[in-house]
Amino acid sequence: MDRMEVTETFAGISLPGHLHTKESLHFAATFPFRDSDVVIATYPKSGTTWMQEILTLLYSNGDVLPARTIPNWVRAPWLEQIYFKDTLQDTAGHRLITSHLPARVLAPALQQSKAKVIYVSRNPKDVAVSFYHFHRLAKFLPDPGSFDAFLVQFLEGRVQYGSWFDHVKGWLGQRQALDIIYITYEELHQDLRGAAERLGAFLGCPPAPETLGSLEQHCSFAAMRDNAMANYSLIPCEIMDHSQGCFMRKGVVGDWRDHFSPQQSARFDRVYQQEMGDAGLGAPWPVA
Ligand code: A3P
Repeated sequence: MDRMEVTETFAGISLPGHLHTKESLHFAATFPFRDSDVVIATYPKSGTTWMQEILTLLYSNGDVLPARTIPNWVRAPWLEQIYFKDTLQDTAGHRLITSHLPARVLAPALQQSKAKVIYVSRNPKDVAVSFYHFHRLAKFLPDPGSFDAFLVQFLEGRVQYGSWFDHVKGWLGQRQALDIIYITYEELHQDLRGAAERLGAFLGCPPAPETLGSLEQHCSFAAMRDNAMANYSLIPCEIMDHSQGCFMRKGVVGDWRDHFSPQQSARFDRVYQQEMGDAGLGAPWPVA
């Protein structure tokens, strides 16, 4: 497989070379967004795939056919990844675009348009756990070592895709400059229907009750775990070692409690406080 061992560095962050090149990253940073574009921006493991599915169902008015027949990376392709140019369907209508890039890389290009941005964030302790397990599955990411070693790297922002803290603070800082909505993984859990209504209003396509019913069913963890177009089971084993676990792993809130020792949690809380301080996040998740 191509560039499995390569790490690309761009704007000070490391990214898997299997998916990114300097050219693909430069292309993303200078992308001519259209006013009708809708961009899902996330730090890895924050609910990206879930949001791709929700938006697919919102735009299809609840018709499950696109979500069941088209892989999510074709429905909402990754802006910075190598294959993006080939996959992005050059439709006249809205385009769904996905990105893990930080705001300081993407926002200048976005600010040239009226594109809408949906930023999804998740309790960073759960992100760290999910990301750790994903490292064991994804052959294009480095061996994470022990959970403790991984956690140290995560807190220092030395993991691939950079610092969670910088990512969240950077995108929160775009409130005035972009047409952006903030939504959390925890909110999706708590009230998927309400979140879908909020998203529909933001996108100018308020969903009908039937759309919401279909969306709730199709975007449940169980339905997505069984949908090959969303669960990444189509990716060959040389790229994702499916014997190491599933992409749709647990899908719960608070799994960190089963992974963190009291010491790890206390260390995390200290860094969180230092980094986030008064960042205005109003932490919608119970970190402690
Ligand atoms: P876990 O590893 O904690 O299970 P991303 O898509 O940003 O990579 O995030 C992946 C995480 O979102 C995984 O978390 C995955 O299980 C979870 N996820 C995806 N779809 C979900 C759904 N419908 N309901 C709950 N969690 C979901």
